[in-house]
Amino acid sequence: MTKSGSRETMHVDAAYIRFLEQYPSYANTTLLDTLRATEYRRLDEQGQVYLDYTGGSLCAASQLEKHFHLLRSGVFGNPHSANPTSVAMTEHVERARHYVLNYFNTSADDYVLIFTQNASGALKLIGESFPFVPGSRYLLSFDNHNSVNGIREFARAKGAGVAYAPLVMPGLQLDLARLETLLDEADPALENLFAFPAQSNFSGVKHPLGLVAKAQSKGWRVLLDAAAFVPTNSLDLKSVQPDFATISFYKMFGYPTGIGALLVRRPAFAKLRRPWFAGGTVNFASVQGQAHMLSPNEASFEDGTLNYLSIPAVEIGLRHLQSIGIDKIAERVRCLTGWLLDELLTLRHINGRAMVRIYGPANTVERGGTVTLNLYDPEGRLLDYRRVEELAGAKGISLRTGCFCNPGAGEIAEGLTEEDMRAAFTIGADINLASFTRMMKERGHKSAGAIRASIGLVTNFNDIRRFRDFIADFRDQTRLTIGDVTFDIESCRIIRDGS
Ligand SMILES: Cc1ncc(COP(=O)(O)O)c(C=O)c1O
Repeated sequence: MTKSGSRETMHVDAAYIRFLEQYPSYANTTLLDTLRATEYRRLDEQGQVYLDYTGGSLCAASQLEKHFHLLRSGVFGNPHSANPTSVAMTEHVERARHYVLNYFNTSADDYVLIFTQNASGALKLIGESFPFVPGSRYLLSFDNHNSVNGIREFARAKGAGVAYAPLVMPGLQLDLARLETLLDEADPALENLFAFPAQSNFSGVKHPLGLVAKAQSKGWRVLLDAAAFVPTNSLDLKSVQPDFATISFYKMFGYPTGIGALLVRRPAFAKLRRPWFAGGTVNFASVQGQAHMLSPNEASFEDGTLNYLSIPAVEIGLRHLQSIGIDKIAERVRCLTGWLLDELLTLRHINGRAMVRIYGPANTVERGGTVTLNLYDPEGRLLDYRRVEELAGAKGISLRTGCFCNPGAGEIAEGLTEEDMRAAFTIGADINLASFTRMMKERGHKSAGAIRASIGLVTNFNDIRRFRDFIADFRDQTRLTIGDVTFDIESCRIIRDGS
């Protein structure tokens, strides 16, 4: 506690001391405070509170320096040719591939690692090449990113059945009993695919990784979308062996963007059928012969020229995470998330009504640092999340709002029914978040979107305290002021425009 501190500082420090008493293991993560003050000092220099780690992580200054040093000091050409600059680049790409496999505790003997543009690119590769046939099934959790939902279009086009495994409220975990029944419905003689996220990008729920082996034992290939999980958790492909795992590297360490990966277990790889060929994917192709021979292994899935200059930065990023320790990151995120959940859940208007509704688990058991919520005024009316995001932005707090490309979890969390969703599609081509939200309000005042604060690599106590204080400022408010403009909190009508 500062000796001469203002009441504000004293209050802050007292809160921090209480936090440390509640979460003593946070004290073992001070390395991240040091990094925050050095590698990531731009955050505090600019007064930014970054709470969108599930959107994308932040990179350390030294990641950029190491990468630029490499680029400045070498002469690199397009890989996969015999000339010296190409060979030099090929060596870096293959070295990064090896490093990624190693990072996930596996090797090229068990998994094929395909570099993609992002997790969505990896998911699309699975969708278009999975051998769905009439009678086979695509089962996926309600809780999935749209790029996993989108695979259902490939499944349907090939005549496979599509089914969704529901979630249970209020925690938004998978309904395990129902899932078991759905898993039993597969014909193991056919190729069936079950997809779920290791961690939800909507609610932060960590779905049980034991489901991978369980589904496999019932005749399913399993797609584990690990994009939101691996930034703050370790994925050990020796102990959990999904047939497919998808990731985006910028979500893990912020830089580079534009590179993701698809990990495919060898037996599943042998079953995939690419629907086309492209430059870089064939050993031989002929125009007059009208035939082609695909390259073996990952090359047959890496269309055209890889983002080759950026790929060495993937190894640099992974080394950076390893130098901190993913378990340390996970522990810090757990402490901060636990404190934030407790604080938000105790916030009350003077009349006793809760200010915040959290979608997902109310504690840190089997959940990560993605905290999704909505705010309510003293009358229990929903606050417009778009205005809340604007207000947060004005205070330098980066949040994300909307449905986070995860409509299934959002529909369940917000109580939207199949009828609501069918009605929404009658809007036709004009359907968008604004018109949808309007319609849902007309249909009983349901929310159609939420506010997401996600905690990650270099979040500190001050960040989440500032976010908590920002939320606490809504206590007993019925109006919001952004700059010179005052809005009615619920209708968003402008009450006063002093601009
Ligand atoms: C769980 C999950 N899967 C897939 C994706 C898609 O990632 P990308 O946009 O990098 O393709 C995201 C992105 O937010 C995600 O959170």
